[in-house]
Amino acid sequence: MAFENGNGKIAPWALWMLLMIPEIKTPIIFVGGKGGVGKTTLSASIASKLAKEKKKTLIVSTDPAHSLGDALDIKLASKPKKITPFLDAMELDAYEVTEKHFKGIEETLQGYADPRMFGKIKEHLELAKESPGAQEAAILESICKLITMQDKYEHIVFDTAPTGHTIRLLSLPSIMSAWTEGLMRHQREQEKIKNAAEVFWEKKKDYKFNPFKPSKKNRWDRALEKMEARRELFLQTSKTLIDPSKTSIYLVMIPQILPLEETKRAVNALKKFSIKCAGIFVNQIIPKEQESDFWQTQVLKQGEILDKIEKFLKDQQRFYVYLSPRDLRGVGELENIEFTPVPMH
Ligand SMILES: Nc1ncnc2c1ncn2[C@@H]1O[C@H](COP(=O)(O)OP(=O)(O)O)[C@@H](O)[C@H]1O
Ligand SMILES: [Mg+2]
Repeated sequence: MAFENGNGKIAPWALWMLLMIPEIKTPIIFVGGKGGVGKTTLSASIASKLAKEKKKTLIVSTDPAHSLGDALDIKLASKPKKITPFLDAMELDAYEVTEKHFKGIEETLQGYADPRMFGKIKEHLELAKESPGAQEAAILESICKLITMQDKYEHIVFDTAPTGHTIRLLSLPSIMSAWTEGLMRHQREQEKIKNAAEVFWEKKKDYKFNPFKPSKKNRWDRALEKMEARRELFLQTSKTLIDPSKTSIYLVMIPQILPLEETKRAVNALKKFSIKCAGIFVNQIIPKEQESDFWQTQVLKQGEILDKIEKFLKDQQRFYVYLSPRDLRGVGELENIEFTPVPMH
């Protein structure tokens, strides 16, 4: 281990470094990686360390399979809960955010749709709520709001779902623009056809064709405003995410082949957005000195993967986190997890 003294213990002079590293200055911190590698534990550890330094910090779990409450040993809700004077925590409730998200969409659609269609719209949205990706879309929007609309915290740490929320967040503005623009184009075509058709279909005696009928235009404008606001929200979020002075993205992995492959992919995916991963935590490393054959074999196996990590991720800032014999629960335990920086060549 990098900071060991002769008897395998951490040298006292190095202890403060281990506890403080990585020195995180960005207001937004994302922690990603495969399921079960230690995202929740390490993001809660980062948040606890920041809070210990008296930085007002919020940790948010965005993974529908919540375990942040278990890690902090406190029951959490979808609103921030005070854990320590400088640490708040919350778990985004997938059901609640999905309901809110679809209510918003319903209002937007009703803003410009024909009132006779409201029933159908409601029916359609009820089905859409159950469709794959609906919860994720809702959670992504909540993350965007937290990133762009808060001014209470110095840091927000996101303990993300294994599906790679971060990358999806980065793709949203372009998807959203294409969607909004497509919809606007479609609506303009629709208006033209409808206006032309009204000349023939309108049954009122005193009807006069007016392509600028204000009531319809106003409704459409209101709906457009909402869509524009949503597009702006995603745009602001992605600006924050690609700004290295505002966002740090950490990846967590364990020394096994599949997590290594996944981490390589994630690093490359971030590169496509010109984002450099702020650091990689290699978690659950078994300390080298083991007496039993079983554990010695495990150390050797991990050693092979650590060599591969060294080879394939050498240009990444890495931190080793050792497998702890203790139960890593509660702020007291979490804030003392050691992050050992691996020297970069
Ligand atoms: N370094 C470690 N030493 C011991 N146990 C760990 C370590 N890191 C994580 N764990 C344990 O492994 C399990 C999975 O970790 P968790 O943080 O929930 O993973 P994830 O959020 O990636 O699914 C938890 O029970 C956690 O306490
Ligand atoms: Mg987790």
